[in-house]
Amino acid sequence: MKRLRRRAAPPPNERARAIGVFDSGIGGLTVVQQLARLMPHEDIVYLGDTARTPYGTKSPETISRYALENAAFLLDKGIKLLVVACNSVSAVALGLLEQELPVPVIGVIEPGAREAVRRTRNGKVGVIGTEATIASGAYTRALKSLAPELEIYTRACPLFVPLAEEGWVDNEVARAAARRYLASLERSGIDTLVLGCTHYPLLAPVIAKVLGPKVQLVDSAGTTAQAVRGLLQRQKLLRNNGSGSLSFFVTDAPERFIKVGSLFLGQPVESAVRLER
Ligand code: DGL
Repeated sequence: MKRLRRRAAPPPNERARAIGVFDSGIGGLTVVQQLARLMPHEDIVYLGDTARTPYGTKSPETISRYALENAAFLLDKGIKLLVVACNSVSAVALGLLEQELPVPVIGVIEPGAREAVRRTRNGKVGVIGTEATIASGAYTRALKSLAPELEIYTRACPLFVPLAEEGWVDNEVARAAARRYLASLERSGIDTLVLGCTHYPLLAPVIAKVLGPKVQLVDSAGTTAQAVRGLLQRQKLLRNNGSGSLSFFVTDAPERFIKVGSLFLGQPVESAVRLER
């Protein structure tokens, strides 16, 4: 704990500092896309732990250790706020990061849960995510704390991650996986489904087709970006002018990140720097 805190001496102009974002790999770029859209004047420094992805199949202890290492790297960059753009990390290590870091920390679970509560009409909410996220029960806790009367149905959909990375988001394989994973949620009568994984927004069209128009999809990337802007505004740390920049760091060879990343970022990833660890 002391190590992380000592690393981050606040520079004189706090508002000018970058927003730090990390994810297990590529998926967090869906959050970066929304952050950059909503806050075009901000510098964003992103770390994708591509050497150790996926996190969603790993234990809470391992995910927590990786999360602290990623946060330490971004703190060294002098960030003013940390966005944990990974549902699996937000599910198991958000409390730890909040406790250890000297800057505000925002995860993707609370904003997604809040939006689902706002949108549901029949009180039946579904959540899909990685095995780590679903096993943690973090979404269920967040939803219940906001609206204890909700009925919540969850399902891990691990195959959606490689499908999204392969760009197989609207073919017969994606449709078959979606039908299989979502069958029980469909039967439960949910009217709202939280896409509780950074990769799932790419599969939103196929998920929407399987569940039909009565089920609304909540993408936590957009709601997280709104939460970040709100927090920066309240703390008078939001930049109002200047053109923001995007810098990408990865822990493995950058070529695949640059190639696949554009699918998640919605624009070309120009370059990425590999960290030596
Ligand atoms: N970023 C992860 C998440 O949102 C998905 C990929 C992984 O399992 O590492 O849970």
